[in-house]
Amino acid sequence: MPKKAYVRAHTNIALIKYWGKRDETDFLPMNSSLSMTLDKLYTDTMVVFDEALPKDSFYLNGEKQGEKETQKISNFLDLFREEKNTAMRARVESINHVPTAAGLASSASAFAALAGAANLALGLDLDPQRLSTFARRGSGSATRSIYGGFVEWDMGTCSDDSFAVPVDDAGWDIGIVIVAVNQKAKEVSSRIGMKRTVETSPFYPAWVESAKRDILDIKAAIAAKDFIRLGEITEANGMKMHGTMLGAEPPFSYWEPDSIVAIKTAQALRKQGIACYVTMDAGPNVKVLCRLSQAETIKEALLEHFTEDKLIITKPGKGIRELTAAERAV
Ligand code: DP6
Repeated sequence: MPKKAYVRAHTNIALIKYWGKRDETDFLPMNSSLSMTLDKLYTDTMVVFDEALPKDSFYLNGEKQGEKETQKISNFLDLFREEKNTAMRARVESINHVPTAAGLASSASAFAALAGAANLALGLDLDPQRLSTFARRGSGSATRSIYGGFVEWDMGTCSDDSFAVPVDDAGWDIGIVIVAVNQKAKEVSSRIGMKRTVETSPFYPAWVESAKRDILDIKAAIAAKDFIRLGEITEANGMKMHGTMLGAEPPFSYWEPDSIVAIKTAQALRKQGIACYVTMDAGPNVKVLCRLSQAETIKEALLEHFTEDKLIITKPGKGIRELTAAERAV
């Protein structure tokens, strides 16, 4: 009987961003990055490899996916087939657990869950560190979703040592309020956006230099459990990344008017003594890093500008894990 493997992986938000590849085939980044795994947003994936299957198939949220999406999955599964030395085809079923109306589905949880499930289904027994080098080749940010809490993706020197390292379980008073600004499809994907930035933005070399410092500083802040410093470094690093895009040719930005509304709201709260800091990835959504114990107060303030369904409070999440029989919806 072919083994069906079920794995859950959570998304992550980068506090020190990955923005630019030095090797596009192997997904080797220009700088090390550091993220926090998020509890509320995750992907559950089932994988089964079977001699009887003529080709790979991929179902997302119950819907059979087209050729282009399935090809991406096939290419990724090839890495595992090569490792196992098998040509068996697979059936993949994924469900994204993202609060409705948020538009927050992520390639990080998708590829981390798929990597975990393929590893189990084929009985490869890859340890988490090695598994993260596989997840990386699906999507760079997926490298970090293998672990929970605060996670560093060490840029490494080659494909084998560019992996995730758990830094801290983030089991202190930390949370995120996600402001889901809109769900429109991105005009510039992160993959294209980072490539354009690396190739054309005169600000890019300065970004790489300063990200190197930021990663050291944020690790020191985490070690000292210094929330304020953690937030300051996070906010500054995100702003610098978005700054590089304004210097690209042609320039681009992911910000929407409502992104600025969310940022200004957080800044106003800070003036009132509530420690909260913003960061944004390659999209208009704003993530407000805060003390979990103050997340409701921050949400209250944001409710003056956003509807309830656009605001999601989450605590730090855990690393990938196999689903229990009761949790297997797919
Ligand atoms: C801005 O991981 O989506 O979210 O490796 O090309 O799949 P690919 O890119 P992706 O880029 C993430 C960029 C970011 C920052 C981050 O998550 O570190």
